[in-house]
Amino acid sequence: MNKRKVRVKVPASTANLGPGFDTLGMALNLYAWLEIGIAEKTVVRLYGDKMAGVPADKTNLIYRVAQSVFERANEPHPELEISMYSDIPLARGLGSSAAAIVGSLVAANELIGGKLSTDELFQMANDLEHHPDNVAASLFGGLVAACCDGSRASCVRIEPDERLEVLVAIPDFQLPTEKARSILPERVPLGDAVFNVAHSSVLVAALCQGNLAMIRHAMKDALHQPYRAPLIPGMETILREAPRYGALGVALSGAGPTLLALVAA
Ligand code: HSE
Repeated sequence: MNKRKVRVKVPASTANLGPGFDTLGMALNLYAWLEIGIAEKTVVRLYGDKMAGVPADKTNLIYRVAQSVFERANEPHPELEISMYSDIPLARGLGSSAAAIVGSLVAANELIGGKLSTDELFQMANDLEHHPDNVAASLFGGLVAACCDGSRASCVRIEPDERLEVLVAIPDFQLPTEKARSILPERVPLGDAVFNVAHSSVLVAALCQGNLAMIRHAMKDALHQPYRAPLIPGMETILREAPRYGALGVALSGAGPTLLALVAA
């Protein structure tokens, strides 16, 4: 072990940006702070109202992920002193668990002198979370296009246009991803798949070129939003009306229930 204590700040993320179901993510300026240190006996301290219900023993995700880093790097498995404060609400489609995983991977890796590469951390994060667009956004920041071929995750980072701003409406209820996922069909019509490939391609090209006017045409989805709308009161109204009030594009954030609008500053 090279260091005694490491502190990291890790961003929340949105996934499924518009038509980019399971692929397009973006880091948000909503953060979790995490401190991990070597200790005589493991202690987990959780601060803030966003941590309600999170276990504070060795079943804690941060603790388990940190140990997996030591194991992968063939380092001893020490007792840990963990402190976490988060402004990222749980189960709202804002990548709280991806942020916790990424924060823990990065902090634990720093404790052992950065033995694992960033790509190894990304692969580990994806193996744990299975949402490459969330973990890539929290790890690399900015906008990300990510994919996974079943064994390896890949990601390209896009620098967001500096005029882009994000507004989120965070409902006051939780929607577990498994529940929002279970409502999706196993198979979709070819036309819907083509619709999303086309719109996602145009959205990525527009974001790369800073073509903000194109976002409103590209930010449409046929793969998950129509199925999830009944779970989120008001969602259809917001998707329909937000562009009339100046949004460049509007989408469900991750599996919801948060709704996200891109606007120009
Ligand atoms: N892409 C996942 C889903 C959620 O929509 O089920 C990731 O946050």
